[in-house]
Formats: sequence, structure tokens, C-alpha cells
Amino acid sequence: MLEIQNLVKTFDGERKKRRAGKEQSTNGDANARVFAVNNVSFDVKPGDLFTLLGPSGCGKSTTLRSIAGLEKPDAGVVSVGGKVLFAAGGDAQRKVNVPANKRGLGMVFQSYAIWPHMSVFENVAFPLRVRSRRQRPGKREITERVERVLETMELLQYADRHATKLSGGQQQRLALARAIVIEPPLLLLDEPLSNLDAKLRESLRFELKRLQRELGITSIYVTHDQIEALSLSSTIAVMRAGEVVQLGKPRDIYENPQNKFVAEFIGTSNFIDGTVKARNGDRYVVETHEGRLTLDAGIDVPPGTEVVVSIRPEAVLLTTERPGDSANVWEGNVTNRAFLGDAVDHVVSVGKLEIRARCLPHISHAPGTTVYMEMDPAKLALVPVD
Ligand SMILES: Nc1ncnc2c1ncn2[C@@H]1O[C@H](COP(=O)(O)OP(=O)(O)O)[C@@H](O)[C@H]1O
Ligand SMILES: [Mg+2]
Repeated sequence: MLEIQNLVKTFDGERKKRRAGKEQSTNGDANARVFAVNNVSFDVKPGDLFTLLGPSGCGKSTTLRSIAGLEKPDAGVVSVGGKVLFAAGGDAQRKVNVPANKRGLGMVFQSYAIWPHMSVFENVAFPLRVRSRRQRPGKREITERVERVLETMELLQYADRHATKLSGGQQQRLALARAIVIEPPLLLLDEPLSNLDAKLRESLRFELKRLQRELGITSIYVTHDQIEALSLSSTIAVMRAGEVVQLGKPRDIYENPQNKFVAEFIGTSNFIDGTVKARNGDRYVVETHEGRLTLDAGIDVPPGTEVVVSIRPEAVLLTTERPGDSANVWEGNVTNRAFLGDAVDHVVSVGKLEIRARCLPHISHAPGTTVYMEMDPAKLALVPVD
């Protein structure tokens, strides 16, 4: 559906350097350029909700804006539904750059960007009305389509209201309505929920997921919020400094982070330093300062390699009685506990380590209690040291 090949986008370096005088600007400005997007490639299947996830400044918006035609990449190819929208050209390759307003894509940004002088109805009708005469639907069809979209977004009752008289959440739903009324082949969403308060964000998140599934619109979603990404996406690309560092299904990324950056960025994890002691197929034994750990990992790491073992707090089970013949059982001492409503967080000290364990709400161990931590080999991940 959407294909991105070797996308590169650079910007001029800091203004400081440019202001610094002529000598600076003559000696190779290549050093001064910022690689906002550095050789990014991915494919998005029809109906997918594909998320670009990463910290601020990692190049998510620049990637999205390049798809939209709002940035001109330095290199690469962008195509939607087999049609090339952008190609930088070179080596027997034709240059292509379809202007943004001819790409026919739907976009929703963080700022609602609704038209304040128009009613709710007119806001949604506008993208249809401004089409060329040949492509413009008839009056009745416009009304039908606008009303249908407003109904889906639960805004029909406000159709005649001034757009500015809507709440923040309603305005963002309006922005979404306006983007989908043109029935775009691809919907681009850049942090559309981040200006809303926590409660509204959560309800709109569910709303968005339902809508996306019902309408089956292929969507690219940009966010720095890992919870949002995990709960919404069919596929996540984790970005760091202009590059995609891991791409996969949410569960896969959560359970098998391929490097420490991803493990740290996607929720909290415990990290235990160690050295690979033995390997038999996918089964590894890792020697750590606090004891041995057995785990399964589908990656290729020879014995003797320094590694980090990562385990999620909810995968650490706590009991006060020593479990039977289980592979990874460590004894520790509870040093801290916090009740979170739907879970109880514990901090358990084991030698020099502090391990976080998240338990079901009915399991709660007071500080000072000796506990046994049980760690399922399937839930430990091997992370290369980087
Ligand atoms: N118009 C611009 N001019 C100069 N630098 C820019 C511009 N837009 C983005 N950048 C830089 O490119 C990098 C990626 O930015 P961006 O794509 O906005 O990141 P994100 O959306 O992940 O927060 C950052 O270092 C940012 O400062
Ligand atoms: Mg951004």
C-alpha cells in the first residue's frame, strides 16, 4: 500500500554555525547538516495502522511530512498504491514530486487546525467543495457524505454549531472527520491526541481504533507515547536519531526488544548484566553477578559475549515460599512497594541489583519481606550491549 525506500532528509545545521561567518560556511557544510531521516525504508499493508514511535526529534514528523509532500526528501522513493509520489531521481530513475495537494492523502495534526469561521458542517464539506469541478461531488452527495462522517464521529448533533464552540476532544474529532471525508487511500496522523487531557486521550484512542478498524483506512500514526503505540498499532517502527531501529508487531517489540534503546523506551524493564555461559539452540545460560539465568532467545550470540538480560516487571513473579524445580528463582528482599490500583509495584533487592516486579492487586508484600522471584525463561530477553 505505502512503500518507503531509502528515504533521506537533511536540514541545515544549527543557526549558530551559519551565523558564525564565511569561513564556516565554506568548509564543507556536509558536517553541519542534520540527518532528520537517515535511510528509512518500510512497507505498510492495506488496512494497517502503522506507527512511527520514538522520542522527540528522532525524525517521525519529517518522515510523515515527506509522505504528505510537505518536505522534499534528499533521496528515496515514496509510493502509495503502486503510484510513485516522490522519487529523488538519479541512476536511470525518473524524478517525481507530486505536490501535496495532488496526493489526495488525509492528514490530522496535533493542533486541531479547524477553520474557526466555519460551522462544523462546513468544515467537513470544505475539502469536497474545493475540488476541481470534474472531481467535485454534487450538492446532495456532499451533504450525504458529510452527515455520514459526522455521525461516525458523533458530531452530527453539532453540525450547525460554530467550530470554535466545540470542546478540545470534539475539535480533534472534527479534524479527523475532515480528513476522512475525502476517503483518502492513506491517513496520516501526527500526534493527534497529545494536546488532550489524559482521560480524553484514552477515550479517543479507543474511538480511533474502532474507527480505523471499521473503515479499514490504512493509517500512519506518529507518537512518542509507547502506551498509545502499543494499544493502537498493528505494526510499530521504533525510530532513533533518524533511523528505524526495530520494526514489528506491538507484542513482539514489547517482548523481544532487539536493543537496549527499544527495551528502555517501550515501558520499564529490568536490565541484568551478564555473560553468555552456554548455548544450546535457542536456549541460553547467562552468568550474572547474582546468579545464573536460563532463557530462550532467537538471536545468534556466541558464548563469552557480554549481554544484558531484560525482563519486564510484570514477568517477575513473587512468592514467599520457594517454588519447586523452576529454572530461574532468585531470593531477594522487598525494599519498596506502591499500590497502583490495578497492580502492586515492588522493588526487590538482590545483591547489588534492584529488580522491579509488578504483581496482581491481591499480591502485596511488605518491605522487609524475603521473597522468591520466579522468572519464566520465555519472558527473559537477551539484549546485545550497544
Ligand atoms: N524545518 C527544519 N529545519 C531544521 N531542522 C529541522 C526542521 N524540521 C526538523 N528538523 C530537525 O530534524 C530532526 C527531526 O525532527 P522531527 O522529524 O520533527 O522529529 P520528531 O517528529 O520525531 O520529534 C530534529 O533534529 C529537528 O530539529
Ligand atoms: Mg513531531
